[in-house]
Amino acid sequence: MYNLSQSVTWKKLEQLALTSKNERIADAFAADANRFDDMSLRLGGLFLDYSKNLVSSQTLELLFQLVEHSPLRQRRAQMFSGDIVNVTEMRPVLHTALRNRGEEPVIVNGEDVMPEIRASLEKLKGFSEQVRQGKWLGYTGKPIRDIVNIGIGGSDLGPNMVCRALLQQRHEKLRIHFVSNVDGLHISKVLNSLNPETTLFIVSTKTFSTQETLLNAKSAKNWFLESAAEQDVAKHFVAVSTNQAAAVEFGIAAENIFEFWAWVGGRYSLWSSIGLPIALSIGYQGFIELLEGAYEMDQHFLNAPLEQNMPVIMALIGIWYINFHGAETQAIIPYDQALHQLPAFLQQLDMESNGKSVNVEGEPIDYATGPIVWGQTGSNGQHAFFQLLHQGTRFVPIDFIASLKTQEKTDEHHFALLTNMLAQANAFMNGDQSEGEQNHASCPGNRPSNVLLLDELNPRNLGALIALYEHKVFVQGAIWNINSFDQWGVQLGKKLATEISGEINKKSTNYDASTQGLMKLVREHVKAS
Ligand code: F6P
Repeated sequence: MYNLSQSVTWKKLEQLALTSKNERIADAFAADANRFDDMSLRLGGLFLDYSKNLVSSQTLELLFQLVEHSPLRQRRAQMFSGDIVNVTEMRPVLHTALRNRGEEPVIVNGEDVMPEIRASLEKLKGFSEQVRQGKWLGYTGKPIRDIVNIGIGGSDLGPNMVCRALLQQRHEKLRIHFVSNVDGLHISKVLNSLNPETTLFIVSTKTFSTQETLLNAKSAKNWFLESAAEQDVAKHFVAVSTNQAAAVEFGIAAENIFEFWAWVGGRYSLWSSIGLPIALSIGYQGFIELLEGAYEMDQHFLNAPLEQNMPVIMALIGIWYINFHGAETQAIIPYDQALHQLPAFLQQLDMESNGKSVNVEGEPIDYATGPIVWGQTGSNGQHAFFQLLHQGTRFVPIDFIASLKTQEKTDEHHFALLTNMLAQANAFMNGDQSEGEQNHASCPGNRPSNVLLLDELNPRNLGALIALYEHKVFVQGAIWNINSFDQWGVQLGKKLATEISGEINKKSTNYDASTQGLMKLVREHVKAS
């Protein structure tokens, strides 16, 4: 029986948190000249400096013991091999197979899925190259110039973040737009700037049942049909979905449907055909490099010893803060404007995976799990919320992320950016109490951070970075013994939205006074569809 919080190691970690609470990170550097070298790791174009953390070799030793008592090793082997890891939906979890660059088969229900994965990549290659070369023509014979991805959650955040991160490598004649919110402003703002003759829509939805995406897709189709005819839809609408029947019923030509599989979680799906906008933007070769970077991280995660394992180290330091220092949030601060959408992507990846309060057996758990992930680019954060981080009452671990080489021409800006990040990481650690602890300017310091440096922001390194965080989330979920791959919590809201929209004009009394009162206000101001 795996009872995490009753384990001897857990108790030792609780004790260590108490006895070490007055220790300072800065003192650890003074005591150990090798701390930086001993607490940093390199994998390909990624460098992790985790030395500015409230951890000692004793802390790490106990955290590694926690791993040995946990189902991590077994669950990692199960995930990569295609076993049922998502136990509440009875599915394998195989985003790793999507980027498997090796020759070994991956078996699902007795069949090797690698041939169909390779076939879907070939389809992605053929289509993206046709569009990029101007050979996919619209209903008036013109090449595509604007692409609109319509999707939400994992059908938006991943491809959106990657396309923005690699904007410097985009096709100079193609513009990629992302529409996700059901708020009509989101799609109307995009459509108003487009020409239906040269616009391609990608309806991205794993289930093809998400209300927001279906309404946005319907509005896009209605907009298109103001200028074109039904038979022209096939030239301007494609779909990425596991639900081919629903896509065909919507009016997407069967040959324009890019399929993927139920064993790919939405928030883990950018490596599948959900990544079509990425291949259209940076080219198929760039998309393959993204996969290769993730594959390299997969192999590292599978084979590196715990003490040298980047995802494991980041996961364990996070657990040390969440379960033994009361950290409720994790800040993600990319000092890289191109990564301004990374915090939003990591929010879904982490919070939809580990925002759970029962274990895989459905039993309530008595320890904290997934943190609230939030963030903003640096140096902007310095002028928004760093005050709280420096002098507030809360304990907020920070991940700083930056690229050593800039894609821009202006080194002066890049130099200022990186020196600001180094200064902040140092200030959080050392603080400043030179004017005395009671002084208003006093910064207590001893506030931990990781620094992740990419040699440069290219598809390979970005792929590795994303896979790093995917596996960090996986490790934490395995140690917490939760299912990181379902999302039952979001189904209730979806169900109630459908119910309320149906009841709103019936002056229903099935709801509390607040909901009824608000429904009345909406009824008076908004015409139901
Ligand atoms: O948020 C719930 C969720 O199911 C996510 O897991 C998913 O990424 C998103 O909605 C969109 O789902 P779909 O791709 O099926 O439209």
